[in-house]
Amino acid sequence: MIPPGFIQDLLARVDLVDVVGRYVQLKKAGQNFIGLCPFHSEKSPSFTVSPSKQFFHCFGCGAHGTAVGFLMEHRGLGFVEAVRELAQQAGVKVPEGPAEAGRASGHLRALADCLQRAADHYRHCLKGSAPAVEYLKGRGLRGATAARFALGFSPDEWTALAAAFTNYDDPQLVEAGLVIANEGKRYDRFRGRVMFPIRNRRGWVIGFGARSLDGSEPKYLNSPETPLFHKGRELYGLFEAQESIRRRRRVIVCEGYLDVIQLAQAGFEETVAALGTAVTSHHVGELLRLAEHVVFAFDGDAAGRKAARRALEAALPMIADTSRVEFVFLPEGEDPDSLVKSHGADAFAAELDRALPLSRWFIRALSEGKDLGTAEGRAALLAEAKPLVSSMPAGALRMQLLNEVAEAARSIPAEVENLFGIRPWRRLPDSRRRESRHQAAATDLREHILQRLLAFPELASEFDGAIATEFADGESPVDRQVIEVWRTASTTTGLTCGALQELLADSDFAEQYRAAATRELMAEADAEGARLELAGAFAKLELRRLNRELELLAGQQPADAEALAKLRELSERRARLMAGSTGEGRQHGTGR
Ligand code: UTP
Ligand code: MN
Repeated sequence: MIPPGFIQDLLARVDLVDVVGRYVQLKKAGQNFIGLCPFHSEKSPSFTVSPSKQFFHCFGCGAHGTAVGFLMEHRGLGFVEAVRELAQQAGVKVPEGPAEAGRASGHLRALADCLQRAADHYRHCLKGSAPAVEYLKGRGLRGATAARFALGFSPDEWTALAAAFTNYDDPQLVEAGLVIANEGKRYDRFRGRVMFPIRNRRGWVIGFGARSLDGSEPKYLNSPETPLFHKGRELYGLFEAQESIRRRRRVIVCEGYLDVIQLAQAGFEETVAALGTAVTSHHVGELLRLAEHVVFAFDGDAAGRKAARRALEAALPMIADTSRVEFVFLPEGEDPDSLVKSHGADAFAAELDRALPLSRWFIRALSEGKDLGTAEGRAALLAEAKPLVSSMPAGALRMQLLNEVAEAARSIPAEVENLFGIRPWRRLPDSRRRESRHQAAATDLREHILQRLLAFPELASEFDGAIATEFADGESPVDRQVIEVWRTASTTTGLTCGALQELLADSDFAEQYRAAATRELMAEADAEGARLELAGAFAKLELRRLNRELELLAGQQPADAEALAKLRELSERRARLMAGSTGEGRQHGTGR
């Protein structure tokens, strides 16, 4: 592992503007730099780089991230390679202690070689295993299909891989996830299973999925996370599908290994699957760069519908006006594999024709379980829609979805826009900009605080007291997010917005954080302004809380001396707050 501290130090040394500037011609525009987006073709620049936040965002295609992310996407590098490349550009040496040895790219290559050797061995074993061949035939697969996906079989023995490697004790076998070392014993991880090699975009075997033949649990065993294999970033079948995806300008995303294989055999070669995890925004972003048309085809069961909901959420931040994202809902109990097998390729083609556009699924998913005939139901719809709509890049599609939300909620779009704190991203004259920024602040103080902390991590520790008082006991997602951001930001000094994003990349809320950081790119506040705004926002929160406490106290009778003293104290505190309620002239972060 590269220590997290190293990545922050590295990000603190490089300037994103230089990193991007090597590949994209940038010019200054206000506080930011803009240029033509390298991730999609465009004629006028919507690719924005913030030097102060060390974060980029394309308002056309939604691509965004830090210097590490830029190199990964633009150069097609893995995370580790990108960090190395960046370190090299900055003239910094990547720590190479014993624990870090696995991060050398030469070493990654060696791990991939191990996995390739194992895959070759498994493929060889499949030929000799009648039950495994029968199993695959029974599932309707042809020999050519098995070859295309390099399917194999792991014999039901403890150390079958010893036949493929001269040194079974090589620690690399453990590191590659092929061998398990336990209390001095070593044995193969995969035994008696059909092997599905998982390959990265360059064709390296990076892991395996492995299905039991006899229904023993777990049905599928997957490689563990290794220096080569990160489930949230990889897609099964992408290597095999990428050429068809480009040619047909479409990608189909389904749930299972066999769905991918069965669909490919039926002629839908442009199919991939997430690896037993939810579809991430990283996945969607990568796919949308290969083709503008993405179709999700999940199983016709409750799990499939949940997966479709997650995919919707993952897609929204990445979607551009030219993207076409659709959802296929298969008949109850069917998955693409079973549908093709029992009803043929045409049946699946018919389902594709009936696919629901993202906008329809959006409204349908949000309306589920709500009575839109009541004000409460419509308010719940608006509340649920807010973070989703806000996570989208500004553009025509966001406007359209907002209009549909408004219609479903029997509101007018302007009201909804106001409620969501959405501002037009096109530059407004300065005065208008201040005004709209002010409105955004008023809609939701807590979200505003979150957004500012993400943009200005160095301010986090200045508001320790106030954050603990106002947020620590909160259970809402925003409260939990503020606490998480504050904890992460205040433990390290000199963090930029981009470096903080890297630290938060594995959080459950990573997408919300990224969306908030993106919104901040357009706000163009400076640290001093943000400090004043934060102080003001905390003062308002405190005032609200004092008012509630005072109301409670006033309602209690008979008031004893202690309660009276408390009442007086709170009133005085409130008076002081009101006197300086805009935050000016008030010491920030005083808490109580
Ligand atoms: P499903 O349970 O829908 O299986 O899991 P499937 O793909 O239809 O498999 P078959 O047709 O019974 O062979 C969908 C996907 O979830 C992951 C696998 O990636 C699988 O393809 N999964 C499922 C696991 O990782 N582990 C499991 O135990 C089950
Ligand atoms: Mn299946």
